[in-house]
Amino acid sequence: MVNITFVQPDGSLVNVDAKVGGTLMEAAVNNMVKGIDADCGGACACATCHVYIADEWKTKIQAPEGMESDMLEYAHEPDESSRLSCQVRVTPEMEGLVIRVPSQQS
Ligand code: FES
Repeated sequence: MVNITFVQPDGSLVNVDAKVGGTLMEAAVNNMVKGIDADCGGACACATCHVYIADEWKTKIQAPEGMESDMLEYAHEPDESSRLSCQVRVTPEMEGLVIRVPSQQS
């Protein structure tokens, strides 16, 4: 398990234990993190699992590609740090990862 923190728009923190090999979305949903609805169940078809991942993690987490990049255009206020959490697999290197939840999803 890897410890990951979700930051809500009001600044409150939710710490979760995420399973290595699972997705960030699954970790959020399993721990009832507010704002990660994941309406399509991880099929990369809804963008309701949109999160922001800080620049300092870019060396450990690949940039979005293909279908994810296309779907991010439908997310609320995407930026350079945007990811669809259903498309990011948890790795041991993510210990301590901090993720921001967009305001429109909570
Ligand atoms: Fe629908 Fe991630 S859960 S795109």
